[in-house]
Amino acid sequence: MKSSISSLLTPLVGLLSVVNGITLEVSSLDSVKSVTSTLAYDMMTYYSGNQTGQVPGILPGPCASTECYYWWEAGAMFGSLINYWQYTGDTSYNPVVSQALAFQIGPDENFNPPNQSKNMGVDDQAFWAFTALDAAEANFPEAGGNIPSWIALAQAVFNFQQDLWDDTTCGGGMRWQVYQFNPGYNLKNTISNGGNFQIAARLAYYTGNQTYADWAVKMWDWMASSPLFQTQDGNLYIWDNTDSNNNCTDVAHYAWTYNYGTMLMGAAYMYNYTNGDPTWEQRVMSILNGAEVLFFPKEYGGNVMSEFQCEPAANCNNDQSSFKAYLSRWMAVTTLLVPSTHDMIMPKLTASAAAAAQQCTGGNNGRMCGRRWYATWDSSSGVGQQMQALSVIGATTIHPGIAPKSVKTGGTSKEDPNAGNGKDASPIQKQKPITTADKAGAAILTILGVSIIVGGSIWIIM
Ligand SMILES: *[C@@H]1O[C@H](CO)[C@@H](O)[C@H](O)[C@H]1NC(C)=O
Ligand SMILES: *[C@@H]1O[C@H](CO)[C@@H](O)[C@H](O)[C@H]1NC(C)=O
Ligand SMILES: *[C@@H]1O[C@H](CO)[C@@H](O)[C@H](O)[C@H]1NC(C)=O
Ligand SMILES: *[C@@H]1O[C@H](CO)[C@@H](O)[C@H](O)[C@H]1NC(C)=O
Ligand SMILES: *[C@@H]1O[C@H](CO)[C@@H](O)[C@H](O)[C@H]1NC(C)=O
Repeated sequence: MKSSISSLLTPLVGLLSVVNGITLEVSSLDSVKSVTSTLAYDMMTYYSGNQTGQVPGILPGPCASTECYYWWEAGAMFGSLINYWQYTGDTSYNPVVSQALAFQIGPDENFNPPNQSKNMGVDDQAFWAFTALDAAEANFPEAGGNIPSWIALAQAVFNFQQDLWDDTTCGGGMRWQVYQFNPGYNLKNTISNGGNFQIAARLAYYTGNQTYADWAVKMWDWMASSPLFQTQDGNLYIWDNTDSNNNCTDVAHYAWTYNYGTMLMGAAYMYNYTNGDPTWEQRVMSILNGAEVLFFPKEYGGNVMSEFQCEPAANCNNDQSSFKAYLSRWMAVTTLLVPSTHDMIMPKLTASAAAAAQQCTGGNNGRMCGRRWYATWDSSSGVGQQMQALSVIGATTIHPGIAPKSVKTGGTSKEDPNAGNGKDASPIQKQKPITTADKAGAAILTILGVSIIVGGSIWIIM
């Protein structure tokens, strides 16, 4: 009987995969589909938000232990599943994604739910907006009911964040934290400003509304004038954060893949939106060149992505363990929006995908992924590790048929330039002053021991 044979076979197949880990043939679409299906499944074993009595959209927390994830990373994870659906056609996770996004929009319908206020950064909100933008650009089925459209949710985040522009210090830019009572309110960081830049650029591309493009230019110009950007030999180096308490006169010399990724993505959309403005193309190239120097070390062949600040020392936190997912995805989309980058980017995605797959040999099931794609499994596992491998392997299938849609090219998500109920509530003001203890709490500033040579000096990252 067929059924008894297959019930006999199932445990054997399970056993084989335990022995073999993940086997990927990068050039085979069937192999990529099969591997990404496994990676997505294992990633979602961390998520129980869709089960009875749980909160949709939330990963295990709060973050007092290591087995916890901030709200933003859950938002990013749902985006990786929208991308997964586009790459493979597998709709398995679409209902879970839709439910989570709809549940986390908050009372102002702009991804600012009160449960998250004590950690709410411009960057946290931006990652949920990126996922809404992924959904709009892919014509992902709308949540329906009284949930705003995907593009309206992104517009609502934009409207809210517009009020956070702060030119009382540093000549402009946005503070990391939305609320003054949170540690890190003093910092103006790249992922927040660059996240807002990316949202503006993508809204310009999707809607064709020049107001968003003007905002993206204003944000780029401010960042370029700040110490966050440093140009050297045609490469752009992008640092992590600068301190408004010193009027942004110095900068923290940390280099992370997602910071390069968000600037790359925004610049690529602006290039495409402007129908090929050479200034934006030059910016795209300078970011890619900087990223190549730092994140694709020659010692591993020059094409395998590495989060060099924390992987060698094995001290990446759960946030940092997901960063390569975003640079991977955004490099892939860049090949479509800026076709001249295709030949530089694809070998990097392909080699990184193969490298990512070969180290997925850990954990109880013998196939969990770690962080160091250039080595064997590093004994770590988690949502970020799975998402990074899922994203880079999926990204190798990028093709013009899944280029981001816009209203001009068949995007159906309904615009609402006035979206978001909280858009007039300026959150800059109120609450207690920042203390030294708060500053020391700025979580992103991990202790590191890496040096980078830029501008003739060696920056010791520590
Ligand atoms: C929750 O989502 C998973 C996919 O991640 C699915 O397998 C499961 O059936 C869902 N559970 C419920 C109760 O909907
Ligand atoms: C906020 O937290 C409460 C208590 O855990 C929960 O019942 C509610 O669903 C949460 N809301 C959101 C949007 O996460
Ligand atoms: C702070 O920096 C901005 C931008 O560089 C500059 O225009 C402004 O004059 C500075 N303010 C002070 C008080 O130094
Ligand atoms: C903009 O992106 C589309 C979709 O990928 C592509 O067909 C087009 O050539 C791009 N435009 C420019 C100026 O490169
Ligand atoms: C363009 O966007 C701006 C900013 O949100 C908005 O005020 C304006 O109404 C929009 N224009 C159109 C034609 O939708």
